[in-house]
Amino acid sequence: MIDRRWDPAPDSDESSRVWRQSAVGTLISVSDAQAAQVPSSSAPIIAVASGKGGVGKTTIAVNLALALHAQGHRVGLVDADIYGPDVPRMLGLRRKQEAASVTLFAASGLARSRLEVVDRHGIQISSAAFLLGEDQGLGVQAGLAQLLVRRLIFDAAWTEVDYLVVDLPPGTADIQQFVFGMGTRDVFVLVVVTPQAIAHQDVRRLIADLGRHQAVTLGGVENMCSQICPSCGQTTELFPAAAPQESIWSSVPKLASVPYSYVAARDADLGKPTMVTGAVPEQVAAYSALAFAVHRRIVGDEVPDG
Ligand SMILES: Nc1ncnc2c1ncn2[C@@H]1O[C@H](COP(=O)(O)OP(=O)(O)O)[C@@H](O)[C@H]1O
Ligand SMILES: [Mg+2]
Repeated sequence: MIDRRWDPAPDSDESSRVWRQSAVGTLISVSDAQAAQVPSSSAPIIAVASGKGGVGKTTIAVNLALALHAQGHRVGLVDADIYGPDVPRMLGLRRKQEAASVTLFAASGLARSRLEVVDRHGIQISSAAFLLGEDQGLGVQAGLAQLLVRRLIFDAAWTEVDYLVVDLPPGTADIQQFVFGMGTRDVFVLVVVTPQAIAHQDVRRLIADLGRHQAVTLGGVENMCSQICPSCGQTTELFPAAAPQESIWSSVPKLASVPYSYVAARDADLGKPTMVTGAVPEQVAAYSALAFAVHRRIVGDEVPDG
């Protein structure tokens, strides 16, 4: 279902100083702008990270943002996985139109350099997917990827957000290093892991890397902790659990456990997140508990781990 089509980002003004990544990978610089300064949001960042792909980072980021909104917070959601920007799809937003170029850098704070944010279910969303066609890939090198993520965070036209939830790509590469090392504002990291040993191993690497940065590790979410049977509703294990000595739970608090649900996976593909459909009460309860715990930890109130 196509809910909306975007026009290309408003980057066509030749008087702006911008760098563009053309569809064939050429950088273009154009001349200076004189637009008025516009302050960017200084809301704390909640970075959703994992050492591994496919563990549910985007699912958690989307539903956490919606749960925070449901609890009265004003939320922006940054889709920083520029190589696989899935946030719009999971929220039912599709863009069919191909882009001829993408602006990677524009002089900070210029009104005309602002990226469009899209309002959906009460949250504001910024994504590279809004700049690209649905099947278009973005083949940028590491340094340029950082520029684009910087732009998605700092140059997006946020209006009054309390939190920016940032959905990261897997691993500890360029984009994560940029977000974790961003010294200019508070960065809190939420790690996502599935129960099995191999997922815990990859997240342990991420946690070790986080030790080198200013970012604060809030805790973790255990995703797909179990499976809810679509026919009988019974809960069963989906993965074998990591042994205690291999588990991350001895070093970070577990803030929530989200079960796997076939219905939720199907609805996610259809662009209907659980926090919108309410179709899986066990997940709604987990996301609500997660949002509550995340907020309380950020504002400094103690919450019991678990
Ligand atoms: N708790 C869950 N219940 C059902 N499906 C899930 C759950 N968590 C993730 N998924 C599904 O698993 C797939 C991978 O999730 P995704 O959030 O894209 O992972 P990542 O961002 O870590 O790569 C998606 O199809 C998503 O809908
Ligand atoms: Mg993802």
